[in-house]
Amino acid sequence: MKRKHSLVLVGMLGVAMSLTACGDDSDSGSEGSEGSTGDSSAAAGKIGVILPDTESSVRWESADRPALEAAFKEAGVEYDIQNAEGDAERMTQIADTMIGNGVTVLAIVNLDSESGAAIQEKAESQGVATIDYDRLTLNGTAQYYVSFDNTLVGELQGQGLADCLGDKKANIVFLNGSPTDNNATLFADGAHSVLDPMTNFTVVGEQAVPEWDNEEAATIFQQLYTAADGKVDGVLAANDGLGGAAIGILEGNGQAGKVPVTGQDATVEGLQNILAGTQCMTVYKSATQEAGALADAAIALVNGEDAQTTGTTKDSESGREVPSILLEPLSITKDNVGDVITDGGQTVEDVCTGSYAALCTEAGIS
Ligand code: GAL
Repeated sequence: MKRKHSLVLVGMLGVAMSLTACGDDSDSGSEGSEGSTGDSSAAAGKIGVILPDTESSVRWESADRPALEAAFKEAGVEYDIQNAEGDAERMTQIADTMIGNGVTVLAIVNLDSESGAAIQEKAESQGVATIDYDRLTLNGTAQYYVSFDNTLVGELQGQGLADCLGDKKANIVFLNGSPTDNNATLFADGAHSVLDPMTNFTVVGEQAVPEWDNEEAATIFQQLYTAADGKVDGVLAANDGLGGAAIGILEGNGQAGKVPVTGQDATVEGLQNILAGTQCMTVYKSATQEAGALADAAIALVNGEDAQTTGTTKDSESGREVPSILLEPLSITKDNVGDVITDGGQTVEDVCTGSYAALCTEAGIS
């Protein structure tokens, strides 16, 4: 494990900068959690992570936060994880406070590239290294970008929808992620690259959902559904929250389960919809893997080393080639929902509740 190697390297070289063991979290609510050290004398690297919100996806608090805490504790490095609650100004304030509290590496999931780039510029002017976590900050200056191959996420969604539709003629609606999220652009590009060449499919509606807001997604999908006169055969929804919103509208029109819907994040809701047959697929992105990759990159920076990267990602605005660690996402359908549970991405207790217990048993999940 890279992190253990880093610790051994630090021990062997007797480097002045040391990684310090963490105490218990001071607070594990969405407003923040810190790993505080017992040894205040250690000149330690301290890693700050600012998550974007609690609304766009349950992943940030239910998956990313615990995975990040576990990764940093395992590495014995001090950390501070906060959530900006969807407010870019609040993210800026949190960044200032973290830097004032001695954070030496700052990772952000930007709410938009402009505010993210300003945070990174200010941090670096104060000698703090920065990392883009999950979302690339366009025109940003992060030393590393840690995420999944987000174009492949879209390709998996496109192929998943095509598989669920078969080779019949079909009208498709795209419900895309937030226009301020570079990932959403990559997801849509990937899905279009698969579906557009399939001439039996016609895109009859497409719209981005500001801030991934699930309520607004329902309104937008209703409008697209009405504009298509209800002639919608498939929905390319960019994550499980948007997919759930579309399924709700389809349910109101007696079409849930007849119109395949995609998703992303392998949330409890998404997996339950797949088991119930109202959602065609989701994309699983292991938070443990992504958090571990962030911890490795951050600790490399703390140690003054180069992180192991998988390549570079071109910033579509500045043209900068950003050193990247991109992980592989997995397509999840009714046939392999159990893989998410086996991998620890969700639990049987959370997914197989109530009426889903029988569906889990049917799917061989116990
Ligand atoms: C994206 C992220 C996805 C999705 C969305 C909602 O940037 O990569 O996992 O959940 O945000 O926040």
